[in-house]
Amino acid sequence: MLLEVSDLFVSYGGVEAVSQVSFSVGEGELVSIIGANGAGKTSILNAVMGLVPPSRGAIRFDGSDITRLASHLRARSRMRIVPERAHVFAHLTVLENLLVGAYGLRKSMDVQQRLRSLYEFFPVLEERSSQLARTLSGGEQQQLSIARALISDPKLLLVDEISMGLMPKLVETVFQALHDLNRRHGLTILLVEQNALASLKIANRGYVLEAGRIALEGDAADLMRDAGVREAYLGI
Ligand SMILES: Nc1ncnc2c1ncn2[C@@H]1O[C@H](COP(=O)(O)OP(=O)(O)O)[C@@H](O)[C@H]1O
Ligand SMILES: [Mg+2]
Repeated sequence: MLLEVSDLFVSYGGVEAVSQVSFSVGEGELVSIIGANGAGKTSILNAVMGLVPPSRGAIRFDGSDITRLASHLRARSRMRIVPERAHVFAHLTVLENLLVGAYGLRKSMDVQQRLRSLYEFFPVLEERSSQLARTLSGGEQQQLSIARALISDPKLLLVDEISMGLMPKLVETVFQALHDLNRRHGLTILLVEQNALASLKIANRGYVLEAGRIALEGDAADLMRDAGVREAYLGI
């Protein structure tokens, strides 16, 4: 497994937000954790990124135990996050935003070549490369946020609720891009989402997170057929 989280607990001032969570993401997989607002999705990703310390549990990435690794050292590992609400630098151009993602990378990396392949994948970013990021639409900002995370050629991409605030049409575009990155380019993706339908459609496997605990797990297709999931998350 590329990422393996076992028995993870996260608490804030004694209040448990994540309890006994175990999940894994294999190389080449697209795995989704679905859960309502406040279920603990961001807390899990922040623990994986080293931004909040777990109170218990272990996190292994690419063969090493990173549970206690400082976040700035984790930044050197080949794991990147597309954070909640895109967080692009509004007053930098599209190209500058992408170069921020490349800052401090290993010297051997050919940034120009990475840019070319990202522009091929997200043509709109090349068209708008000299525009300020704040002039992009919501969907374009999400594409920029994904591209910025990808410029360093990560092995694992963590995506935090990318559908939030996007119009349905754009949700489709952005999820199609994630699907293509996974199926055609072999990128391993962990997607956490409230939008269960959109994310289970493109995922191989999924986990249902309820009040900080994994309530259910399985193949994405099986989860979409599950009566409880359909009622609680798919509105059918
Ligand atoms: N920094 C924090 N301090 C205190 N409580 C927090 C903090 N971050 C999240 N929480 C609480 O932890 C729970 C899980 O939050 P979060 O991980 O953001 O869920 P989600 O991303 O699924 O919406 C919520 O009850 C939230 O209020
Ligand atoms: Mg969240």
